Amino acid sequence: MKIMQIDVKVGRPEAESAEVLVVTHCEGEGLHKQDGAAIDKSLGGALRDLLQSKEFEGKAGETLLYHTHGKIPAKRLLLVGLGRKKDLTLDAVRQAMGYAAKRVRQVKAGSFTVSVPAAVPKGQSPVEVAQAMAEGAILGSYQFTAYRSENGAGKDVEQMTLLGQHKGQMRQLTEGVRRGAATAEAAVFVRDLCNHPSNVMTPARIANEARTIAKDEGLTLKILEQKDMEQLGMGALLGVARGSHEPPKFIILEYNGTKKKEERPVVLVGKTITFDTGGISLKPAENMEHMKADMTGGAEVLASIRAAARLKLPLRLISILPVAENMPGGRAMKPGDIVKTLSGKTVEVQNTDAEGRLILADALAYAQRYDPAALVDIATLTGACVVALGQFAIGMFGTDQRLKEQVRKAGVKAGERVWEMPLWDEYFEQLRSDVADMRNIGGRGGGMITAALFLSKFAGDGPWVHIDIASTDWSERERAYVPKGPTGIGTRLLLQYLIDRSL
Ligand code: BES
Ligand code: ZN
Ligand code: ZN
Repeated sequence: MKIMQIDVKVGRPEAESAEVLVVTHCEGEGLHKQDGAAIDKSLGGALRDLLQSKEFEGKAGETLLYHTHGKIPAKRLLLVGLGRKKDLTLDAVRQAMGYAAKRVRQVKAGSFTVSVPAAVPKGQSPVEVAQAMAEGAILGSYQFTAYRSENGAGKDVEQMTLLGQHKGQMRQLTEGVRRGAATAEAAVFVRDLCNHPSNVMTPARIANEARTIAKDEGLTLKILEQKDMEQLGMGALLGVARGSHEPPKFIILEYNGTKKKEERPVVLVGKTITFDTGGISLKPAENMEHMKADMTGGAEVLASIRAAARLKLPLRLISILPVAENMPGGRAMKPGDIVKTLSGKTVEVQNTDAEGRLILADALAYAQRYDPAALVDIATLTGACVVALGQFAIGMFGTDQRLKEQVRKAGVKAGERVWEMPLWDEYFEQLRSDVADMRNIGGRGGGMITAALFLSKFAGDGPWVHIDIASTDWSERERAYVPKGPTGIGTRLLLQYLIDRSL
């Protein structure tokens, strides 16, 4: 999908020519003096009538299309509901723009114009509002058509114009759009990578994506091949990859946006299983195709470093992707096998389907060599996360209060909220093994917690946060700006954290 171009300018909506003019409205409010009323006047009171007859009320998710018949320069007017003013959040704005962009595409318009809403969420600056608007529009119009002979969903909306009221706003709106376009573009990239089937998006292909990014953005790239991993002693990652004909990869990308060479970096680690069959502990057939998205974490840290470089964020950032395919096979790891991890600790593999924590164990241990200022891993790690949190909250664990708070706040801003879970050492008794330092499953109860606790044994002593996105990485239905299928959720969370950190 080509990312929509977004332009910012000063203008009066009633005077702008446009294929579609989008007007946002809060439920239960009168027409806003500045834009609503001026448009209404030119249309001979049509807006007032629509509101009075309750044909359009301004409820969240509501849209109404109106042909202007030349009464204003814009051909069509699209009313979009923001919901109640008192409940207005950045995410309500993002969602409204998602609905708007989809409706614009439905009517086969290639572009639209929208003013910054008259009502702005409490405590939010124009930068944040413009960012949310850009994100909603780009993410809402997402479609994955790479393998369709006919473009069933309709052609992409190519351009959006964001209208500000006065010149003084321009700098902030432009900055917001710049950030929003970058974060949304990153999430779109993740959705694409996860939508591609596993016969295309193999470990080798992921390595190629990393090569392209490194070349385009001028990043330092290192790719460890199987023999390098053998030399280093990454027994856990190698164990997971054993059943597959696709050789594993270990990808390290580095971006330095600071002048200081010696600044301690933020290190992001993403689980990159290009397909998770479960291995010898084979998964049931139903919904197994979702496991092509078991690489969401890796795609997200890849997209994040690309976006950080494009935004020229002033920080040092390293993204690490342990990449493998989890397959059964003649050489596959078997329940009871013991692997030696890069850290030296041994693990009894009681269930080959708990593979994410194995590849992450080696990646987190590898991350220690960078002495991270903050270490964040993100993974579609446990089915237990889905059970515990449903589809709207992301699981978060961590050792550092400040880092956890930063991630939590970024989640609220991004509309990708995390919920903290306990990382108490008491749970470790569930991970004890009779034959090795630990086992890779924790038995019944607290599955998301025992997985996180397992990781903590490899995450070192510095600030660390673990994010379990198994709950949100795949959506069963289409929402305002979230498609059915791979969602890319977690990408904007990571990026917002990086943006806020470098401000
Ligand atoms: N990739 C899965 C977790 C998952 C499940 C992600 C559903 C997204 C949706 C992971 O590798 C896995 O299979 N975990 C097992 C662990 C168990 C064997 C301890 C699980 O959760 O069932
Ligand atoms: Zn698994
Ligand atoms: Zn998995």
